[in-house]
Amino acid sequence: MRTLACGKVQDMKIIMLGAPGAGKGTQAKRIAEKFGVPHISTGDIFRANIKNGTDLGKEAKKYMDEGQLVPDELTVRILLDRVKDKDCEKGYVLDGFPRTIPQAEVLDSELKKLGEKVDYAIDVDVPDENIIHRMSGRRACLKCGATYHLEYLKPAKEGICDKCGSELVLRDDDKPETVKKRLTVYHEQTQPLIDYYKKAEVLHSVDGTKEPDQVFEAIVEILK
Ligand code: AP5
Repeated sequence: MRTLACGKVQDMKIIMLGAPGAGKGTQAKRIAEKFGVPHISTGDIFRANIKNGTDLGKEAKKYMDEGQLVPDELTVRILLDRVKDKDCEKGYVLDGFPRTIPQAEVLDSELKKLGEKVDYAIDVDVPDENIIHRMSGRRACLKCGATYHLEYLKPAKEGICDKCGSELVLRDDDKPETVKKRLTVYHEQTQPLIDYYKKAEVLHSVDGTKEPDQVFEAIVEILK
């Protein structure tokens, strides 16, 4: 990792870990903006495909609506294609990938071929009991991917995205029953990544129950 004179950091490959609704997306967008690297959310890629009615979107929707993970082979291919884009040369923030040990292993082996590695895995830690409340209040813009909250992060005009003016919606998979299923899947399949990255000595945890600005300050301290 190198810090440029302008304060921006080069060669920065960051992974955001945490339960659904922990605030990974909220923080990943801020990191991307501050450090000048792209924010890549596999969830956003799937939602854009669902919105555009592509075959990938139709396939992914079957799993997402059930609170299940999209199969690894589909997800890995999409992610590896995306990180080959030119804007990823100086690093990226991955939000929602990897989500299983096999996904992490594929990413590591692809990076190894390039003589690279994951630099930081940041776990945004929020207990399950806070998650369901957060998710039912989240409102999302399916056009530009911005997210808001009915209590904690209100848009300037109710129900309308500040960034692109589109209508804000409750995501299909944010309904309480689906959130409970997503939490179970998270504990079974994604939480083991915390140990995986601890062993790789790149894991950092932040308290995701604090205000979004405080969470971001803690992350910037880690990345400095
Ligand atoms: P994805 O879109 O990645 O969903 P997720 O991981 O479940 O995460 P979320 O986007 O729901 O939450 P977040 O942690 O980003 O929280 P946010 O910042 O929005 O994936 C959706 C689905 O796609 C998956 O279930 C799966 O089916 C599929 N998928 C995606 N990637 C996959 C992969 N790699 N493999 C297989 N399948 C995959 O914040 C939540 C709310 O809380 C917001 O309203 C926000 O404003 C508010 N908030 C944020 N921070 C705070 C705070 N500090 N205090 C109070 N409120 C806060």
